[in-house]
Amino acid sequence: MKVTVFGVGYVGLVQGAVLAEVGHKVVCVDVDQSKVDFLNKGGVPIYEPGLEPLVKTNLEAGRLSFTTDAKAGVEHGDVIFIAVGTPPDEDGSADLKYVLEVAGSIAEHAQKHKIVINKSTVPVGTADKVRNKLKQVRRCEQASFDVVSNPEFLKEGAAVSDCMRPDRIILGTDSDIAEKTLRELYAPFNRNHDKIIVMDIRSAELTKYAANCMLATKISFMNEMSNLAERFGADIENVRRGIGSDARIGYQFIYAGCGYGGSCFPKDVQALVRSANSAGYRARILEAVESVNYAQKEKLFEYIYRHFEGDLEGRTIALWGLSFKPNTDDMREASSRVLMEKLWQAGAKVQAFDPKAMDETQRIYGHRDDLQLLGTKESALSGADALVVCTEWQMFKAPDFELIKERLTAPVIFDGRNLYEPDQLSAMGIQYYGIGRGK
Ligand code: UGA
Repeated sequence: MKVTVFGVGYVGLVQGAVLAEVGHKVVCVDVDQSKVDFLNKGGVPIYEPGLEPLVKTNLEAGRLSFTTDAKAGVEHGDVIFIAVGTPPDEDGSADLKYVLEVAGSIAEHAQKHKIVINKSTVPVGTADKVRNKLKQVRRCEQASFDVVSNPEFLKEGAAVSDCMRPDRIILGTDSDIAEKTLRELYAPFNRNHDKIIVMDIRSAELTKYAANCMLATKISFMNEMSNLAERFGADIENVRRGIGSDARIGYQFIYAGCGYGGSCFPKDVQALVRSANSAGYRARILEAVESVNYAQKEKLFEYIYRHFEGDLEGRTIALWGLSFKPNTDDMREASSRVLMEKLWQAGAKVQAFDPKAMDETQRIYGHRDDLQLLGTKESALSGADALVVCTEWQMFKAPDFELIKERLTAPVIFDGRNLYEPDQLSAMGIQYYGIGRGK
């Protein structure tokens, strides 16, 4: 099948490469010439496990190509994905500017029937706006359009495998032709049992937000429980195991920590709160999810501030983990950023290490002289007054505690992801602060 994908961010690039891998002919369109040139040479601008070889093989096989030529892109695809960004505007609502620009350009260049698929996370009602735009701008009599909502559920760091083996494929459509075509398109991912769930367009649009907001709610709920555990002298890790064993609750997304980040949860919770408001409804649970998370991101700083009795001026803090979660170099809304910015404000210096996000940190904070980026986790420790862990990369899970003790001026660890055992560390003479470990 001939497929075009507009937007080569996380979602568009992974979707395009995965569709090419199963044999579809995919053209990806983006406005960023340098990104397109880089991709056409087999480069991949983001770190995502398994993505680079996938892009390379499919480029070489001629099933995948990248262009800035929107007209050529529209002519190529019978099915056209819109996978461009929907950044929050000033009040936190999703900005549809790029989505509607792409719709305009599809309508301008289409010469025959096209199935237009919304892959970007967009507020309920966007498909109608896309449809209106397509109608308004349509240049050619033969051009007609079906608009489908087909939200993406991939996780950064596991994007390729999530896309290859989706839990479900949501199709929001009111057209039999579109449903039939998309069933064919996704047939290679739908082999063993039917994962396709067909519904009306608005429900599909809301499903995407509901999924992310439910997951964010689980996390904020556990973070709230961790604050209670701390005050009641309980250990949130025991509570987690205790409630996760109930299949109705489940073990996933109930890890307390230093807050959720990334390009999805913070933005989507905020956007749904705003859409609810404009529909005349106050989404009180989601408001709470957002404010608990905001406070949770300040938690590590509060522990550090209290530990040093407010005296942070001239201190050096070693920081392990900068990305918002492991297996990505993405720093968007990362807890490490809130921590570093508060430490700097208080006059402390940061010595940081991350396995993948060093370039990204350099790009954002490279100008600062109170940040030093070190090449190994061990070198980040030297001469520091404390170690803080913000991201649960595998390589931080079983460190050499004797070495940590040796290198820090006085041994204290602030563990934002509850990676370590408090009793083991105190037996070794290391002071330990975890999240919600009041026992
Ligand atoms: C999230 C969803 O998990 C995907 O299903 C969705 O498709 C995606 O957003 C999207 O809308 O595109 P992602 O942002 O890549 O994926 O990251 P997650 O693995 O969900 O983690 C988000 C944040 O929650 C991270 O900062 C992580 O550290 C935090 N988290 C996660 C916790 O604090 N506790 C947990 O138990 C789980």
